[in-house]
Formats: sequence, structure tokens, C-alpha cells
Amino acid sequence: MDKPKVVLGVSGGIAAYKACELLRRLTESGHDVRVVPTESALHFVGAATWSALSGHPVSTEVWSDVHEVPHVRIGQEADLVVVAPATADMLAKAAHGLADDLLTNTLLTARCPVVFAPAMHTEMWEHPATQENVATLRRRGAVVIDPAVGRLTGVDTGKGRLPEPSEIFEICRRVLARGMAEPDLAGRHVVVSAGGTREPLDPVRFLGNRSSGKQGYALARTAAARGARVTLIAANTGLPDPAGVDVVQVGTAVQLREAVLKAAPEADAVVMAAAVADFRPAAYAAGKIKKKDDRDPDPIVLVRNPDILAEISADRARPGQVIVGFAAETDDVLANGRSKLQRKGCDLLVVNEVGERKTFGSEENEAVVLGADGSETPVPYGPKEALAETVWDLVARQLG
Ligand code: CTP
Repeated sequence: MDKPKVVLGVSGGIAAYKACELLRRLTESGHDVRVVPTESALHFVGAATWSALSGHPVSTEVWSDVHEVPHVRIGQEADLVVVAPATADMLAKAAHGLADDLLTNTLLTARCPVVFAPAMHTEMWEHPATQENVATLRRRGAVVIDPAVGRLTGVDTGKGRLPEPSEIFEICRRVLARGMAEPDLAGRHVVVSAGGTREPLDPVRFLGNRSSGKQGYALARTAAARGARVTLIAANTGLPDPAGVDVVQVGTAVQLREAVLKAAPEADAVVMAAAVADFRPAAYAAGKIKKKDDRDPDPIVLVRNPDILAEISADRARPGQVIVGFAAETDDVLANGRSKLQRKGCDLLVVNEVGERKTFGSEENEAVVLGADGSETPVPYGPKEALAETVWDLVARQLG
């Protein structure tokens, strides 16, 4: 089979260097990549680098190899065009159909999915002109990834960073697999919690759990790729922010609850993948707890944390909102799952059997998704993303 043909458009921003990593990931995973930089992008990374990494000649304008009509052919033949970084100027040109160089010509001739990964200063991103251009591009079916929040050029920080190349790559992979089909979660807002809460005992110690957050991140990533606006509430994961996802960092169960309750009123679906501590220490010591010579340690008194899943299920923020819980079980997986589903009052419960091989932190998972309607959807052992896709299939079906 021919390798999928990807055009990597690079416009002139400092983040152009990160596109080298995206290019490498694309080529190493079996894509035939043509890099089409703009003239100003070459101020940041030179043509020799793009050419060496892609194995193709590189040109910025339509006057090279005119007999091959590259400005038409490159776009027509592409299975995916991804522009990373996309500057404010590039978004404006694309939204208005300008075609003054090879990349803008390519964007007009492409009939395949197009992904833009914008990167610019916060003010430029937030300017109504840019926002309208982004809305225009999205209306036409392009995927425009919201920039990440963080360090920008110089000392500035804010929204406008290019997401991690690995995350842009994940989106490209999914968009390629989907083709031109309309994403089924477009126009939906979903909230996903991920990771494990930590309940502090003193400034240096906490009670925690082994949840890595990988399943929740896979849920966030796949929902974003299916067109949803995603709020990811992350508890102590240390994982890179998925591209195009709003990430809210929390520490404790109480903070997680606050963040979930704040985001839920706008959400079509809430997926509680986080491992929430059922208990927290009754007291927090402002100074480090010291061991006292020869004396047994003081017992740790615990109090109950609120059950967030049960609370949001009982008191739905919106009619028709779909709520999904997770449960890790060691024995009587299905029977325990069924009764937990009822107890919590959610619509779907993903039941994991925990044990050997199915350890926390792994890339794989195996589960059964129980529905309040009595349905049972087994998900065979495989990548956490496959389980995430099944969860969204079921959520999308319930949302109708
Ligand atoms: N959950 C929650 N708030 C809590 C505890 C758990 O929202 N205080 C959510 C989790 O995010 C997950 C589900 O509830 O979606 C797991 O339920 P839980 O009762 O904690 O499961 P287990 O820890 O497996 O429970 P048990 O101790 O009853 O076996």
C-alpha cells in the first residue's frame, strides 16, 4: 500500500523548530511527508533541514519545478495537510483564500482534512480578527487546535504555545484515520477527570494512589479528535497537556470536586476516570510531622471525601447529560460493577479488572462498559485509546 501523503506546512514563528519533531514522528510512522514552509519560516529553520528530514525537495514558492505544477499537485495528492506552527497571518490567509506562495496555494487545492496548530502571542490569538478567522476555518471543516498555555517567546507566558509535537501527531493520526467524515462529537463539550488525588498530611507527605492518568488523557485526546471541546481535570499526573484541551490542574479530592462542579453545567458528558481518594486525613499539620523518639506514631484519623460521581449523577447539571464512572475491581467484577453502577446512579460504568498484567501506569487496559439500560460492552485487552473510543461511541449514542 502507498504511504499516506502528508503535507506539513510550516509558517514563520519561533515554534517552527518543533515542527522538526512532528516531521520525524510522521515519517517514522510510515507517512510520506512533503514539507512546505513559508519564506519567513525559513528564517527559523532552513530548507536543508526540512529536505533532509523529509527526503523531498523543499520550496516555498510556486515558481520552482513549474512543469510539475506543484502548487496544484501537492495539495491535490495530499491525504492530510497539517500547518504547524500556524501564525496569525497564515490563519488569516487561509480563512480568506489568499494564495501568494506554495503553502497557501496548497491549502486551496487540498481536498483532504486540514489541521492547523496555531502558535502566537496571547494578544494575537485573542484578537477578534484571529478568532473570526479560526471560526471561519472550523466552520469549513478544518481542525484548528487551540494553542497550549505556557511559556511563550521571551519572558511572556499565556495561551499561544504550540502544543507538544507528540500531541499534534496524535491528532494528525486520528484525523487521517477519520478522513473527511464529520466528527461525531463536534459541538459537544465534555469534561474528563484523570489521575489520582493526593490528600496531604503535612507539607511533605500525602496519601495517594497509583493512578497514572493515562486512561483519562486518552479519553480527553480522543474526544478532542472527535470534535468535542474538552475540559480535562488532571490530578497529579505529570503528563503533557493533550493538544487543544483545556487542562485544569488539581491536587485533592475536594479541589477535584470544585473543578468538576464548575465545569459540569456546560458539559454534555462528564467522565470520571480519576481515582479519587475516598478518605482524607482529618487534620493537616502545618509543619512537618516529626518522629518522636521511642514513641509509637500517632494514628492517622481519616474522614470521608465527597463522592463526586454520585453527587453529579444525583443532581444533573443539565437534562440529558451523560455521566460515566470507572471502577476497579478484583473479584466478581461484573456483579460488583452492576451494584456500583446503581449505587452511583451514573449512565455508564467502565469496570476494570485489576490484577497482574493490568497494572496501573500501563498503556493497555481491558474492561467491560456497563450501561444503566442493562447493556454490557466488553472491550478486549488493548491500548487505552481503544477503550476511550468505545466509551465515546457509547456516549455519542446516548447523546443522540
Ligand atoms: N469517585 C468519585 N468520588 C469519590 C470516589 C470515587 O467521584 N470520592 C468516582 C471515581 O472517579 C470513579 C468511581 O467513582 O469514577 C469509582 O468509584 P469508587 O466507589 O471509588 O470505586 P472503588 O474505589 O473501586 O470503590 P469501592 O471502594 O467501593 O470498591
